[in-house]
Amino acid sequence: PVPAFIDALIAKMTIAEKAGQLTIMPSAWSGTTATALNPPTNGPSFDAQLEEVRQGRITGVFNGNGAEMARRMQGAALQSRLKIPLIFAADVIHGHRTIFPIPIGEVASFEPDLAERTARMAAFESAASGIDWTFAPMVDIARDQRWGRGMEGSGEDVLIGALFGAARVRGFQGKDLTSPEAVLACAKHFAAYGAAEAGLDYNAVDISERTLREVYLPPFKAALDAGVLSFMASFNEIAGIPSTGNPWLMRTLLREEWGFQGLVVSDYTGDMELIDHGFAADARDAAKIAFLAGVDMSMTSGFYRDHLPDLVAKGEVDEALVNASVRRVLALKARLGLFDDPFRRIDRKREQARSRTRAAIDLARESGRKSIVLLRNEGDLLPLPKVGRKIAIIGPFAAGAHDLVGPWVVYGDDKQAVDLATGVRAAVKDPSSITVVEGSGVEAPLAGGIEAAVAAAQAADVVLLAIGESQNMSGEAQSRAEIVLPAPQQALAEAVAATGKPIVVVLKNGRALALEGAVRDAPAILVTWFLGSETGNAIADVLFGEYGPSGRLPCSFPRSPGQQPYYYAHKPTGRPNPSDDKLEPYKAHYRGIPNSALFPFGHGLTYGRIDYTDLQVAPQLAWDGEVVVSATITNRGRRAAEEVVQLYIHDVTASVTRPVRELKAFRKLRLEPGASERVTFRIRREQLQFIGRDNVPVVEPGRFDLWIAPSAEGTGLKGHFELLKG
Ligand code: IFM
Repeated sequence: PVPAFIDALIAKMTIAEKAGQLTIMPSAWSGTTATALNPPTNGPSFDAQLEEVRQGRITGVFNGNGAEMARRMQGAALQSRLKIPLIFAADVIHGHRTIFPIPIGEVASFEPDLAERTARMAAFESAASGIDWTFAPMVDIARDQRWGRGMEGSGEDVLIGALFGAARVRGFQGKDLTSPEAVLACAKHFAAYGAAEAGLDYNAVDISERTLREVYLPPFKAALDAGVLSFMASFNEIAGIPSTGNPWLMRTLLREEWGFQGLVVSDYTGDMELIDHGFAADARDAAKIAFLAGVDMSMTSGFYRDHLPDLVAKGEVDEALVNASVRRVLALKARLGLFDDPFRRIDRKREQARSRTRAAIDLARESGRKSIVLLRNEGDLLPLPKVGRKIAIIGPFAAGAHDLVGPWVVYGDDKQAVDLATGVRAAVKDPSSITVVEGSGVEAPLAGGIEAAVAAAQAADVVLLAIGESQNMSGEAQSRAEIVLPAPQQALAEAVAATGKPIVVVLKNGRALALEGAVRDAPAILVTWFLGSETGNAIADVLFGEYGPSGRLPCSFPRSPGQQPYYYAHKPTGRPNPSDDKLEPYKAHYRGIPNSALFPFGHGLTYGRIDYTDLQVAPQLAWDGEVVVSATITNRGRRAAEEVVQLYIHDVTASVTRPVRELKAFRKLRLEPGASERVTFRIRREQLQFIGRDNVPVVEPGRFDLWIAPSAEGTGLKGHFELLKG
């Protein structure tokens, strides 16, 4: 319920003040971290922004810096005619001052609860800095690894996307949004931003309504069901209509069909971009189109502030609609407790006390190690002993205060993060047994680098090859046409591999990569993403067996960049190629490349030896019943292991073709050496639903194949059941 005083307040507002409440601007605070998106030079001065606040011309600012800035701005808001408090927003994506793994990395934990806890901690830290609203979580499904923004999401799978999106919303918002430890979450980017053609950021999207509803919308709906109170419109068009100007998306679907009561904000200059889309003639037209489409708040462009008053005066926009949007904004400010105490999240002492606490750092290490995925471990090369091995750490990511916190961090600092060499030195008994050689730049060779690297490898017992992408190679606007290791690093890897020394690839990456040559063939490969504040310690924990790897890939690693978009839940073709070993003519495959992934979604090894046996499936599922599926999972290894047991189904015949496999459930379990556990899943009719011919959900009786398997392409155990008619 919206408090009564809000309508009384709206009744007192001028149309200019109303337009101001629908306008958010980048912070002009000189201490603002400069980012490509938020250059501090081209906006107003801080004093000019304070004046705008006093005149009630903006509702709040975003990506400013800390409690001192917020205190001064909020003070100015209280000098405005109606004393409406400002809202402070920020991109708190994977931590605030303590930085957690990039979202896609954290998803590899297959522990939504972990994401809820890191989001909670990020809220705790950022709210103490005066932040009320985070522009997170990003819940866009990403099925094309060329798209750099996939690092901020939950990967390619719909179920995983929904579970992690909801968990992050719960984490940020907590149970009580008035709490000075909670921040408002924002589900972004609505919608289908991740479906950009050819993985090119901002590119057009052209998908069917069925695909939109079945693949791209469920994580948004899950965020909404978890209580998210804001949505951000996406930059892209869908089938010719830019989201920022799409009334079907914002009003018909989001508000009418889903019943969303919260706020919709544009993404940065999304309204302005309607002009470049060729969808609006000028600024005034763009403001009108975006507002009428259902975007309540305009970010950065100032178009609502500048044009809504005139649009209302000329009768082109109904003032009642403006009032409804203002009401949503003020209701959220009330939900955040800002009318009761505009300074409730602004406290410089608390900001200090809550920055990088022991608990936050410990959580960064826990989430870091749980995000790591062991792709291969031939001859049990890992874990390494802590004594008696000379280790050469080679590569551009071996050491140094760079590329640790990862992409899309506004407030974190690489200098406060632990690099790989520091983590490894702290873990071994004799730090002097470690040599560090850069070997190559990230994208350019280093003079003498390969020679030094080869010499270090020759003198060592084992090599940690710290290679991959730098943090500016993924994230917004960082699409890559070739998702491979940059050539100088590949050359470094080949030279080091030629020494014959055992190599552990420690891959830094913001997306799945098509690994090639010596990197693809290395005996051990760890995917370590960007792990944040505790990078080196978390990797060392896994390298030396303090923690057994438990991560699973949330995105498939392809064999070749040309396979993009590659995702496991693809549709069958009428001419399926029978097997990877046999590429048959006139069957669907690329020349010379099997269709499978190099490492599929869900793949990840442990330091144990896991067996799947004794599948049991009830043959029939009654319409209102459930089918019980179980299997025995055993650890035959000599080390404890955490296994992620995955349940996939395939609807064999349906009125609309169905993916070859779909993840329906998973369980992460810890097994001591020699231990077995019977894992049981229960499937109900609702889990078999799909979007039918009329674009509404349907369930159809018939046969369903199922697999309990260690990955989306793993054989595991196969069975089937029949859904009976209702
Ligand atoms: O929140 C972001 C969004 O994800 C991308 N464009 C800029 C916004 C505000 O920083």
